[in-house]
Amino acid sequence: MMKVNIGVIGGGNMGSAIVSGIRKKYDVAVCEQDRKRRQWLKRRYKVMTGGLNTIAQMSKVIILAVKPQDFDSVLKELKLYLIGNPLVISVAAGITCRYIEKRLGSKTRVIRTMPNLPAHIGRGITGICAGKAAKKKDVILAQKLFSCVGKTIVVDEKYMDAVTAASGSGPAYVFLFMESLQKAVRSLGLKDSLAKMLVMQTVKGSLDLMEQRKEDASVLRARVTSKGGTTQAAMEVFERNKIGQIFLKALAAAGKRAKELSK
Ligand SMILES: NC(=O)c1ccc[n+]([C@@H]2O[C@H](COP(=O)([O-])OP(=O)(O)OC[C@H]3O[C@@H](n4cnc5c(N)ncnc54)[C@H](OP(=O)(O)O)[C@@H]3O)[C@@H](O)[C@H]2O)c1
Repeated sequence: MMKVNIGVIGGGNMGSAIVSGIRKKYDVAVCEQDRKRRQWLKRRYKVMTGGLNTIAQMSKVIILAVKPQDFDSVLKELKLYLIGNPLVISVAAGITCRYIEKRLGSKTRVIRTMPNLPAHIGRGITGICAGKAAKKKDVILAQKLFSCVGKTIVVDEKYMDAVTAASGSGPAYVFLFMESLQKAVRSLGLKDSLAKMLVMQTVKGSLDLMEQRKEDASVLRARVTSKGGTTQAAMEVFERNKIGQIFLKALAAAGKRAKELSK
């Protein structure tokens, strides 16, 4: 396979997850300002590290994985060193393609992505959208890169706030559900370690079943819910307390916040 030089700017949480996923298939170099972190990245992932200027000049693809508040200064510096027309991929929440194009030049091929936390173990899902100058092959390359850390979907940029609300924040909803379920199981008298095991294996098993059977959640739910049984008793409480409405409101709030924070 042809190797492409990928430069990752920012080797923190998300940057290192991406490095860990792509380093086996691509030549990767990282720019990380924190010295200790830089040394750890070198040791852990056996990747080259270097200054922004070196990475910018040698890379055909530059992945920006710094915090949104550091974007301005990084883009300013990056503009000084860019040669050729590398593909610029951002993973930052709320930074639009236009924001990057404005700072690096309107001809810059920009891809915006929204990965999520399970990317750390190669099981994330990344929403991908293209800027004005990005070509179809750029989108395909971004899909290839992010498929090293999980699945990918391609959307119009106008849907990125929805992707952020769904899969970006999504792991927190799942953990909240598991946390609440675990507490409730404990309240029935089981000790913590058993409650945790029951909840984890139930979630894992249900997900695997859904994947293998290729059936909708609603169909599988109906299958567990026999008339007049225990599950139905629980379902009635969820419905009386309008669980569907709670999800609608929570997702609307996350989507609204994503919009407010985007620039
Ligand atoms: N974490 C997630 O689950 C997640 C999910 C989706 C998207 N994202 C996006 O990923 C981006 C990074 O988030 P994160 O959680 O990975 O943050 P993080 O852990 O703080 O990582 C950013 C790293 O970049 C370094 N850095 C900052 N400015 C730099 C510069 N000029 N040159 C080189 N390195 C620089 C930081 O060093 P210092 O610590 O010294 O500042 C830090 O080590 C954000 O834009 C976020 O929106 C994250």
